[in-house]
Amino acid sequence: EKGGYPHFMLKEIFEQPRTITDCIRGRINVKGTNVVLSGILDNKERFLNARRIIFVACGTSWHAGLIGEYLFEDLCGIEVKVEYASEFRYRNPVIHSDDVVIAISQSGETADTLAAIELAKSKGAFVYGICNVVGSSIARATHSGTYIHVGPEIGVASTKAFTGQVTVLVMMAMMLAKMKGLIDEEKYREVLRGLIAMPDNIKEVLDQHEHIQSVASIFTYARNFLYLGRGCNYPTAMEGALKLKEISYIHAEGCPAAEMKHGTIALIDQEMPTIVIATNGSVYEKTISNIQEIKARGGKVIVVVTEGDCIVAEMADYCIWIPKTAECITPLLSSIPLQLFAYYIAVNKGRNVDQPRNLAKSVTVE
Ligand code: M6R
Repeated sequence: EKGGYPHFMLKEIFEQPRTITDCIRGRINVKGTNVVLSGILDNKERFLNARRIIFVACGTSWHAGLIGEYLFEDLCGIEVKVEYASEFRYRNPVIHSDDVVIAISQSGETADTLAAIELAKSKGAFVYGICNVVGSSIARATHSGTYIHVGPEIGVASTKAFTGQVTVLVMMAMMLAKMKGLIDEEKYREVLRGLIAMPDNIKEVLDQHEHIQSVASIFTYARNFLYLGRGCNYPTAMEGALKLKEISYIHAEGCPAAEMKHGTIALIDQEMPTIVIATNGSVYEKTISNIQEIKARGGKVIVVVTEGDCIVAEMADYCIWIPKTAECITPLLSSIPLQLFAYYIAVNKGRNVDQPRNLAKSVTVE
């Protein structure tokens, strides 16, 4: 059932053009002029009157929540908090009855996320789920929700579920922004068309797999990695670092690019490679100066850039490009090379990619 791939993880990475298509099917119209999620429509007033949105999740799903924070603040003007479910459940968090709590979980069985949901419900909040597994405990425990519909994810390292979660978050934020009258038609359509074009754009990134594999081979024996990004690509950087840790057992850290100078930069030397997401957008120029700081200290830099970029590509040691798209959906593209990079390094090291040591696909104990 690996469809000819040596591992489920690789199969699932390569499935993403199709899983994004499945995720948006019947939700965005063909022309890219409208998005409808029934879960939002059915609970329109709850969302329109939400005082805050609080995401609760773990691991990769928590990273998706962090991207949700950028989307809902920027596009919908709603205050957002993103919580590790495991911390949230053991604090005494302030939850108002007009807060909307959004639980994100691929498996729908994560014990901490389930407990966070029960706590939020006990305090009167409305709880919405973003799950993959239909009929799972979290899907049942939430008041309403949206499935990501990416099909079974077998590899312990989450890949297609992450891009499915982000796709659902974009669709939710778009819908809400439109209902609130906060988004102009041009931007709304640009993002929706960007989602429609996403499967083809992801294919273009996947077509670079041999190049990504050769870069991974050069760095297989590095002992530490730093991942940098800004804006919505900061959570993507953390997600890239988590992928590498999980399956290759190499230490990696995701850091907001500009925060590096407040400490992490002390780690930079020739032995500490850095992966920088430096795609075009509002923080592009700033990221360039972060790359210069690393190069000046002898650090090796691998960059993920927008197609056609020469400035960053010339500064860096290795370059992987992604097609141009609306800024708020770049994580759907920039996460792909990071998944492949982690995969090839883990394979080179002879790791058990689909079932890494010490990890389980769903963490049903706290
Ligand atoms: O099933 P969930 O999305 O609730 O799982 C949450 C985390 O356990 C999960 O994302 C974990 O971090 C993955 N192994 C990441 O690849």
